Amino acid sequence: MSRGDDLDRWLDGHRGELLRQLIDWVRIPSISADPEHTADVRRSAEFLAAAAGEAGFPRAELWETAGHPAVFAERMEDPRLPTVLIYAHHDVQPADPLDEWTSPPFEPVVVEGELRGRGVVDDKQNVCMHLEAVRAHLAVVGRMPVNLRLLVEGEEESGSAHFEDLIRSRRSELAADLAVISDTGMLGPESPALTIGLRGLVYWEVRVAGPAHDLHSGLYGGTVANPVLGLATLLAGLHDGEGRVAVPGFYEAVRVPGAAERQEMARIPFDEAGFLAAAEVPGPSGERGWSTLERRTVRPTLDVCGIWGGYAGAGAKTIIPARCGVKLSARIVPDQDPDVIADLVRRHLLDRAPAGLTTTVEVVSRGRWVSAPPDHPALGAAGRAVEAVWGRAPSLVREGGSIPPVAAIAAELGLACVLFGVGLPDDRFHAPNERLRLEQLHRGTRAAVRLWDELGTLGAAGLGRPAGPASPG
Ligand code: BES
Ligand code: ZN
Repeated sequence: MSRGDDLDRWLDGHRGELLRQLIDWVRIPSISADPEHTADVRRSAEFLAAAAGEAGFPRAELWETAGHPAVFAERMEDPRLPTVLIYAHHDVQPADPLDEWTSPPFEPVVVEGELRGRGVVDDKQNVCMHLEAVRAHLAVVGRMPVNLRLLVEGEEESGSAHFEDLIRSRRSELAADLAVISDTGMLGPESPALTIGLRGLVYWEVRVAGPAHDLHSGLYGGTVANPVLGLATLLAGLHDGEGRVAVPGFYEAVRVPGAAERQEMARIPFDEAGFLAAAEVPGPSGERGWSTLERRTVRPTLDVCGIWGGYAGAGAKTIIPARCGVKLSARIVPDQDPDVIADLVRRHLLDRAPAGLTTTVEVVSRGRWVSAPPDHPALGAAGRAVEAVWGRAPSLVREGGSIPPVAAIAAELGLACVLFGVGLPDDRFHAPNERLRLEQLHRGTRAAVRLWDELGTLGAAGLGRPAGPASPG
């Protein structure tokens, strides 16, 4: 029996404990965006710190921020071994609309080989996967092939407002040879993938105010400007008839993929029909001239995330609403600059602000895109680990989602980042009935076990650490 077989056997024998731990954690509603759940986010951090300690990290503690706490854990095996910093998050998205869940979001249940609950796939399973891989190594081999530093933040789902400050103030404790980011997914159960690109994100809140209070639409209708109509007109002008963003300059810095890159993308086994079926839409929509995969990865977007204003209750109420608002987001791609885009769209909206009304635009958050080199030796190591489990080499893919801390980790800590996570496109990230496939979790754990072995074999020098006594931390 090989070492890999022994490790797999240990994992197979401990599936129940892994699942129980994940379920206990998902019961804690760590919704970072909602002040009512502040104490729950802390409880989630405490749960994780305890779990990391129990899994074999001698140091496991909460790191306070000006917002929600992060969790830091460390297991230094031998300074000569490579040191890997794992990044993930323990906060989750709000669970609403609650009435669309088939079981309560924070009472996780296993149904037909999947676990349902808020945060199961994004991102608690990826963290449990890593803890389990450490347990397996320690139980079977007695030691880790790498040194690990684990940083699991509590504010990713609400914009990571304090993440950069945190890593700046803790730079020396976060020193490493490589970062492994575990907050992404794959293409399908039999289509393994590693992510080499993420889009960035800019978020605005736009408010349009009219009269000081609601007015009778018979007494005032036709005599004063209506904020909702003004806002609707403003929004209608954000795209042209080809599905392109109509903000001048929006596409200026976009790196347009060449014919060779587009051909390569067309070979990715992206299941477009399945992707659209999971959304239950009649067909694709978007910028003309680009495939669905291109639209969601290498092309930028501008979307409405929410809108409010006026009367939306039962029956009819005849008013001119006093005010309304909208939340807008842009997904940005190489080489768009989040600050430039934030300003371009803000100015565009203000320049076209409807007459007779007061329009304000607030930039809520901005995050950079990520583009990782496809030839880094650590990516090769991750590819071998995934291939050993799935039986085929992973595709290297760009993802449409955003993880702003990744760019901060690369820039502030100077680390190469490998993105390894096991969610699937139809796992209902951020949606009701979020789920994970238990088979993905178990395969992912086997791959994580192998990833540490592969990185240990590469060695610190193989990850670019200069020879000599110097070692991170
Ligand atoms: N895990 C996701 C991002 C993701 C999902 C990347 C699937 C690749 C595949 C992450 O938790 C997330 O949702 N990020 C937010 C960032 C925002 C709140 C700043 C996003 O993309 O909307
Ligand atoms: Zn998320």
